[in-house]
Amino acid sequence: MIEAATTDRQLHIALITETPERTRPLASILSQTCDVHLLPPAIDPLVIDNFASCVVLDVDLSSTQVIRELQPARSAILARSLPSVLVIDKSIGERALAEKIRLAKTFGVRNYIDHPFDADQVRRIFAPIHDAHARSEAASRNKIVLRGVFAAQNELARIMEAPHNKSSFSFGTLEANTPLILEALDAWGIGSWIETVRRHHGGTYRHSLLVTGFAVAFAQKLKMRPKDQQRIAHAALLHDVGKSFIPIDILDKPGKLTDDEMELIRKHPRYGYDLLTQQGGFPVEILDCVLHHHELLDGSGYPDHLRAAQIADLVRIITIADIFSALVEDRPYRQSLPPMKAFGIMEDMGNKLDGDLLNAFRPVVEDTA
Ligand SMILES: [Fe+2]
Ligand SMILES: [Fe+2]
Repeated sequence: MIEAATTDRQLHIALITETPERTRPLASILSQTCDVHLLPPAIDPLVIDNFASCVVLDVDLSSTQVIRELQPARSAILARSLPSVLVIDKSIGERALAEKIRLAKTFGVRNYIDHPFDADQVRRIFAPIHDAHARSEAASRNKIVLRGVFAAQNELARIMEAPHNKSSFSFGTLEANTPLILEALDAWGIGSWIETVRRHHGGTYRHSLLVTGFAVAFAQKLKMRPKDQQRIAHAALLHDVGKSFIPIDILDKPGKLTDDEMELIRKHPRYGYDLLTQQGGFPVEILDCVLHHHELLDGSGYPDHLRAAQIADLVRIITIADIFSALVEDRPYRQSLPPMKAFGIMEDMGNKLDGDLLNAFRPVVEDTA
């Protein structure tokens, strides 16, 4: 798998206390909805930097030793503007309480929990903290997914528009941007990817981006090495670049295609292969996918009527992602099919597709449903 994303959906609480036995009931209430760690005041500030999404202080702020021990943590809490909560005990008297709250504010504390602990009050205090955390995680997710989709889309546009504006492109820039695509899918899954890609107005772009999402999600489900995930991302993204040579009114025709139109569409694998070959620098296995993604194991595909033994695994994977994607997409001539129905149609294709690979693809379909 690729490096883990920096975002996390769960609220991680650093519950700082010098009296763990007194604080433990609070930890057990919070543990029902959060990841909670009891930590001493002399906590390493790196824990706040790298782990905590909320801090709860159950400490004696009138103790100079506690204040001294807390200093590194205090700087880290303020630097990250973490939501901070203080445990208070009203039995200490009004003046002592006011002083404790004054000191707590220098730690960024804005919320208070009474000791002895009351589960309902704790839940009430933490509800808005959970909401704020979920909102900020959603914003991070959107950013990561958008970044991945934009990277894929830009690379695709660079290549598909090259023949029309006589520009050049390179495999190197595609390779450099692929980690963004893998990260988006690894961190947030196929669902967020589909949601973002579906907004794209161009049919071939939307299709190629969806195939990329399904193919990479498939590779990640199979726990392929990052290098192999990259190969799959490249092949999927590029498989239909030859469609840039087919007139858009044929690609988007709402009715049945004439024989001539069908014949022209069937040339897109060859057009794509020629485009990338003339540019140079694209790996042979990627070119193989571009040329052969419409081949079927029983020899009934096109353009070369290859049979099973001649069709590489990488091509078979792209073919499965391609057919599934086409079935679940809205097309000018028909509505999208529900994912499980699309999968059923593919199962009925029998020996045209690789049965073992198709079975392994099922979890991706289930994630989509
Ligand atoms: Fe195609
Ligand atoms: Fe396709």
